[in-house]
Amino acid sequence: MMDSLPATPGKFKMDKPQYHHHHHHHPRQLTVRWHHYPLVSKVAVWSFLAIALLVAFFFLSPTTPNSSSTSGRRSLRNAAPWGGPAWEKCVRSSARVRRSGGISVLVTGAAGFVGTHVSTALKRRGDGVLGLDNFNDYYDPSLKRARQALLDRAGVFVVEGDVNDGPLLHKLFDVVPFTHVMHLAAQAGVRYAMTNPSSYVHSNVAGLVSVLEVAKSADPQPAVVWASSSSVYGLNSHVPFSEVDRTDRPASLYAATKKAGEEIAHVYNHIYGLAITGLRFFTVYGPWGRPDMAYFFFTRDILRSKPISIFEGPGHATVARDFTYIDDIVSGCLAALDNAGKSTGSGGKKRGSAPLRVYNLGNTSPVPVSHLVSILEQLLKVKAVRNVVKMPRNGDVQFTHANISLAQRELGYHPTTGLNTGLKKFVRWYLGYYPTSSSKKGSRGGSSSAL
Ligand SMILES: NC(=O)c1ccc[n+]([C@@H]2O[C@H](COP(=O)([O-])OP(=O)(O)OC[C@H]3O[C@@H](n4cnc5c(N)ncnc54)[C@H](O)[C@@H]3O)[C@@H](O)[C@H]2O)c1
Ligand SMILES: *[C@@H]1O[C@H](CO)[C@@H](O)[C@H](O)[C@H]1NC(C)=O
Repeated sequence: MMDSLPATPGKFKMDKPQYHHHHHHHPRQLTVRWHHYPLVSKVAVWSFLAIALLVAFFFLSPTTPNSSSTSGRRSLRNAAPWGGPAWEKCVRSSARVRRSGGISVLVTGAAGFVGTHVSTALKRRGDGVLGLDNFNDYYDPSLKRARQALLDRAGVFVVEGDVNDGPLLHKLFDVVPFTHVMHLAAQAGVRYAMTNPSSYVHSNVAGLVSVLEVAKSADPQPAVVWASSSSVYGLNSHVPFSEVDRTDRPASLYAATKKAGEEIAHVYNHIYGLAITGLRFFTVYGPWGRPDMAYFFFTRDILRSKPISIFEGPGHATVARDFTYIDDIVSGCLAALDNAGKSTGSGGKKRGSAPLRVYNLGNTSPVPVSHLVSILEQLLKVKAVRNVVKMPRNGDVQFTHANISLAQRELGYHPTTGLNTGLKKFVRWYLGYYPTSSSKKGSRGGSSSAL
């Protein structure tokens, strides 16, 4: 869990990942033909070779926008290439630092919930920010587009592309010598891993490696801050969760990919001298949040008088989460960037040791989900139709509670927003964003796919 709470499975549109097996097919077919038909005419061979090269070029071309988890249908529709003088100008201007001592940050997953807030906060203090996001449809992409419009007004340009697109990433580093990477792009959500496991491997494992590959070969190397998750604590029962606790018993594939990310970070720090900070977020909520998370779809369902499922553990045990307000997470992210230290490598070679760290960013006060619902009832002035059900064993854990003393000490991280205050801000945003949601007749949310 951590990222989200009970969802109705199958609620979200599936990604249709498309990987580039194509790379290998054509050369192999060619070899096979050579062996089976040694007498085939020269002309036929050369034509075949030419076609194969063309096809290979098409699939390898950096102008193919989605070497990604998005569908082929999308790739064709959004075939607008990146690059060109106008595009580079947008990139440069977005990433330009406007305060002395400022940093320039590549924010991946910028059109996501946390990415949008972090990007605007950096921009507001005068740092350079460039966004990258593939706008996949794990949840309603129109929400990502609305966040993009918000970012655009704030002066943050979001490049549409996948973190697995190496040529694109290299190009971005050619245009801008980023001092920092804030890597937030990921396949989030715990239960969806049972529907689309490969999207987790693609974005959270391969995608992280792709980002670190480019960071390690950049000169100068940026410092990297990235989002891990409280889900790495898995079956850990020692509370509050501390960074020294065991993280080798993940309860979901999502958690396992985040844990893998922490080990991968170790490698890139060890071999290449990259300064890397992992942040274990604890159930982040707030305005512009994720529709696949409980506080969000509880709000939607309560307003529609639709029954909501509240999970309980074995023996009626309470399910509780350490809900953390987005502004507190943002201040933790900015503090992590400011304290990221320096990467020491250059030209892909390590020159000295660099910091490798991991921090919990939570709120230190777990709240039972039933209490979350009571707060929402008060704020929405609607009584929820509660349906208490046993928590299915699909990756969610029963309880999360962050020990944040390390982040407190080293980052000056001090969360200040309680759940009442934070949910009030969320509900205000929700009712403004879905203006007809409180009327009984069809709402904007109702007509969209993921809501
Ligand atoms: N929100 C939480 O409670 C929470 C808790 C723990 C960890 N996290 C982590 O924090 C980060 C941000 O989470 P969020 O809540 O903002 O999620 P989000 O889904 O709103 O944001 C992630 C963004 O990344 C983009 N993305 C996904 N795969 C991509 C790819 N391969 N290439 C380019 N872009 C891609 C998505 O389109 C999305 O906009 C994620 O790494 C998530 O795993 C979040
Ligand atoms: C919190 O974690 C720190 C280590 O960062 C540890 O020293 C401390 O004892 C922990 N506190 C609790 C209450 O477990």
